[in-house]
Amino acid sequence: MTSTISLTIDGQPVEAPADATVLQAAEAAGITIPTLCHHPNLTPPAVCRLCVVEWEGRRTLQPACVTQVAADAVIHTRSPRVDLARRTILEMLATTVDLSDAPELRAMLAEYDAHPERFGEDLTRREHEVIIDNSFFVRDYDKCVLCWRCVEACGTDMEHAFALGFSGRGFETSIATFFENPMPETTCVFCGNCVGVCPTGALKDRRVFELEMATDY
Ligand code: FES
Repeated sequence: MTSTISLTIDGQPVEAPADATVLQAAEAAGITIPTLCHHPNLTPPAVCRLCVVEWEGRRTLQPACVTQVAADAVIHTRSPRVDLARRTILEMLATTVDLSDAPELRAMLAEYDAHPERFGEDLTRREHEVIIDNSFFVRDYDKCVLCWRCVEACGTDMEHAFALGFSGRGFETSIATFFENPMPETTCVFCGNCVGVCPTGALKDRRVFELEMATDY
């Protein structure tokens, strides 16, 4: 049986299972920590760092979605340092990615007083044609934040199809099929799980996409 430990989150005494993550302990105590790459049904890839928290005595900010709690830890989820980190991440996302289909991220931009425009106007943005190569869903990589959820859903966490991976390096990194083949030529079984877990509309039901195009939604 897992033992229970005591810690402090945002000044509030919290009891949590010893093997809980900081995110789980905070959620159980009614404290919200923002996430992006984390999904409750997927292995956390811990790539976005939006969930970072400040842990007294630890040098670096800790990703709450994968960091295990410890007895007597003192954790801050909204310290100035945490807010600055989240604000900068959000600004960098907004300067490069189309967040028009990501209302939660846009709300966070306001909540964290993020100003992407401070990076100037001459910015390099992700610009790709929407890929329409099958009857079921479209891929709009201009909206992709590389959260990795679709890759996890296509892999061992859900479908075991392994149709999605990534290609490129640095700014050119992109979710992709192997050799960037059209989706019908991959191992994709069109289960739709990747579309279901995408947080930004980069993967979208084709009918929804066409309806939006037709109505200029
Ligand atoms: S939600 Fe924790 S690193 Fe992305």
